[in-house]
Amino acid sequence: MPVRAPADATVPSPDPKRSLTVTDQRTQREYILAIEDGAVRATGLRQIRTSPDDFGLLSYDPAFQNTASCRSAITFIDGDAGILRYRGYPIEEIAGRRTYLEVSYLLIHGDFPTRTELDDWLHHITHHTMVHENVKKFMDGFHHDAHPMGMMVSTLAALSTFYPEAKQIQDSVLRERQIHRLVAKIPTIAAFAYRHSIGMAYIYPSNDLGYAANFLSMMYRPSWTTGYDPSPVLAKALDTLFVLHADHEQNCSTSAMRTVGSSYADPYVCASAAAAALYGPLHGGANEQVVRMLQEIGSKENVPKLIRQVKAGKRRLMGFGHRVYKSYDPRARIVQKVAESVFSEMGRNPLIDIALELEKVALSDDYFIKRHLYPNVDFYSGITYQAMGFPTDMFPVLFAIPRMSGWLAQWQEMILDEEQKIARPRQLYVGPPERHDTAKPASRPV
Ligand code: CMC
Repeated sequence: MPVRAPADATVPSPDPKRSLTVTDQRTQREYILAIEDGAVRATGLRQIRTSPDDFGLLSYDPAFQNTASCRSAITFIDGDAGILRYRGYPIEEIAGRRTYLEVSYLLIHGDFPTRTELDDWLHHITHHTMVHENVKKFMDGFHHDAHPMGMMVSTLAALSTFYPEAKQIQDSVLRERQIHRLVAKIPTIAAFAYRHSIGMAYIYPSNDLGYAANFLSMMYRPSWTTGYDPSPVLAKALDTLFVLHADHEQNCSTSAMRTVGSSYADPYVCASAAAAALYGPLHGGANEQVVRMLQEIGSKENVPKLIRQVKAGKRRLMGFGHRVYKSYDPRARIVQKVAESVFSEMGRNPLIDIALELEKVALSDDYFIKRHLYPNVDFYSGITYQAMGFPTDMFPVLFAIPRMSGWLAQWQEMILDEEQKIARPRQLYVGPPERHDTAKPASRPV
């Protein structure tokens, strides 16, 4: 007969109707684990031991495929149904209707701002857009062909040296000040990285322009003029793309932000770590790879060849698939509409026809159907950015600018969460057992 394990002080007493009963076949002991919000606590497994000196059972989850690392009230995703909500609001209701800075406020503060709160927020963001003159000198040190994402990762970390007060992460006033700075300065850093790469003078922020329009001005304004009117259609399209990229719960870069932040590092170095994670081609670098892939395909006739290569496991279809979405990424649908508005202003990007053909072929192919692989946000965003005139290596940077709000919202939530501690996963050691160094060491000068 299974015996019931003695109650463990570290495990909350389970309500029998919301519990999981497991039997350890090694010992025939039975354990009852509480189910809270659809999860059992991994630490609850530690009571499952074969002997008093046994460490206790661990859960093994490489790449956190089935492990919730936090409770969060910011972003909700239902990957099967293709639902994305920020603070409860469906993305379809927000994108195109609310500005990026309103959404940024929503993510960070929990609600859309009132008129007064918005004025205050806009005032702070607008007045923190400048960077210290030494930041320019720092950026001047990069090689002319440095990837702008590399420049951004480094410059975000360098900001930490300009604002030592940022270390005081428990001070809510100082925390809010760093939030203003990071949201405000990231477009300036992004645009400076671009201007540096083409050897053109940096354009300072214009406080009379909106967030997206000011970014376009810093990117494209000729240095010999002071007046520049960014196209309202492009500014609106970019602002909507910013809204779509603002947060996406516990993705790779956000997890990096939280993990580094859990050691109480300041938000600048945390944001740099998050941007580094975003840089990879499986995450925010995918938009760049999609365009390179479409250019390589060259014409619709070559789509079947690429599909064959993907199915043979020789390459991945970039911009397809997602850890959470197992249906159409709702952001990808909205990006398609934004793309049309950009094309109406700038002319049609011919890569869109290859992309549409690729999507059509893939969505009717068994390989993709069985694996639930659908276009993600990156599939159409690169084509849209390209039509707007952005160079390909700026695409991940364009993802990083708005994701700053999500990173900061999640970082602040983590700091205020009493359950959080320094992130420190366990491992399953598979190396050699204890052994002894008895061989004569090769003598080398020390
Ligand atoms: N092309 C071809 N096969 C794929 C793809 C793809 N894009 N994505 C997944 N698969 C296959 C994969 O080979 C595996 O097949 P099998 O079961 O036969 O081994 C199966 O689908 C499951 O894939 P996985 O690698 O276990 O899935 P994951 O959750 O670890 O990876 C992903 C998610 C996004 C990294 C992956 O789908 C991928 O590499 N996609 C291409 C890169 C990309 O578009 N990234 C942007 C993600 S959305 C924006 C963001 O938030 O960053």
